[in-house]
Amino acid sequence: MYKIAVFPGDGIGVEVTAQAMKVLRKVEPKTGLRFETEELLAGGASIDQFGVPLTPETLAKAQKADAVFLGAVGGPKWDSLPSDKRPEKGLLGLRKGLNAYANVRPVKMFPQLASRSPIREEIVKGLDFIILRELVSGVYFGSPRGIEKLPDGTERGFNTMSYTTPEIARIARRAFEFARKRRKKVTSVDKANVLDVSQLWRKVVIEVANGFPDVELSHRYVDDCAMQLIRDPKQFDVIVTSNLFGDILSDESAMLTGSIGMLPSASVGDKVAMYEPVHGSAPDIAGKDIANPLATILSVAMMMEHSFDQPKAARAIEAAVEKVLADGYRTADIYAEGTTRVGCVKMGDLVTERIS
Ligand code: IPM
Ligand code: MG
Repeated sequence: MYKIAVFPGDGIGVEVTAQAMKVLRKVEPKTGLRFETEELLAGGASIDQFGVPLTPETLAKAQKADAVFLGAVGGPKWDSLPSDKRPEKGLLGLRKGLNAYANVRPVKMFPQLASRSPIREEIVKGLDFIILRELVSGVYFGSPRGIEKLPDGTERGFNTMSYTTPEIARIARRAFEFARKRRKKVTSVDKANVLDVSQLWRKVVIEVANGFPDVELSHRYVDDCAMQLIRDPKQFDVIVTSNLFGDILSDESAMLTGSIGMLPSASVGDKVAMYEPVHGSAPDIAGKDIANPLATILSVAMMMEHSFDQPKAARAIEAAVEKVLADGYRTADIYAEGTTRVGCVKMGDLVTERIS
C-alpha cells in the first residue's frame, strides 16, 4: 500500500489531475500494488482556504507520502498578491520541502504530432532528449531578494542567483547517470561568459564528468542553446542546467513537440519525488473542458516508473497515449484537420479505455 499526495491545484490543474487519477485507477490492479490518494491544497486553492499558498501541515503530509502528484497552480485571481503570498510560492515550497532538486523533463516527439510542431517536421521528427533542471536553488531561491526603496524615491528590485558546489555536483551526477542509460551525451547549459555563478557551475560539472569517462560532456551558453533547440534539437541527449534556464528552455522544448500540453515531468531528490506536467494552470481555458490531459497522464507513467518501480505500468500508459493519438483523437491544442477533436474528460476516458 502506497500513499500519494495529490494536489490538483488551480485552473486546468484540477481538470487534468482528474483524468490522471482515472488512469492511475486503471493501471493499479496491473501493478499488484495499492495506491491510497489524499487530495491536498496548494497554490490559489490553499490561499482561498487557509490564506497561505502552502500550510506547514500540508507540506508535512506531502513529505510523509510515497509520491506527490500535482496539476498546476496560479491564476489571475491571486496575481496581485505580494510575491511570498502568491500561489507559485506553494509549488516552490513543495519542491524545496521535498528537496526534489532534479527536475526531469523528457522532450519526446510522438510521431503522430510531428506535423503539429511549429518547427519543420524533418528537424523535430524522432526528437528524444531530456532536460534536467535544477529545481531547489538558483535565482528562484537565492537571497538576498526583494524590492527596496532608494533614497531618491525610486525602487530597486533584486534577486540572487546562487549555487554551491554540492548543489551543482549532485545535479551534475544525476545528468551523467541519466546519460549513461541513454545516448551518453551531456550538454551543460550556463552563462559562464558573464555570470560568476555559471563559472562555478561549469567548473564543478567538469569535475563531476571525470567520474563518467564514458559520457561525452559539452557546454553551451544558454542563449546559444535556445538557438540550437530550434536549429538542430536532435543534437541533444541530456541537457543539464540551472533552475531559471531550465524553466525557460523547457517551455521552448515543449513547443518543439507540438504543444506544452504533452510534456510530463518528475522531480526527484533523496526523498519523496513529485510529478507534474510542465504546463501551468492556463486560466484562460480553465473550466471549459478543452485542456490537454496527456502531459499529466504521462506524469503518472513517470511516477509508476520512478517511485514505484513499475516500468510495465509506465509503458502501458505511454502505449495507451500513443494509441489514442494513432486513433486520431486530439485536444484543441494538438488538433489538425482530419482528426477528431475531443475535450479533456473524453481524452482521459479514451486513454483509460486503451490501457491493457
Ligand atoms: C514550471 C512553472 C513554474 C516554475 C511556475 C508555475 C512557478 O513555470 O514548473 O516550469 O517557474 O518553475
Ligand atoms: Mg515553466
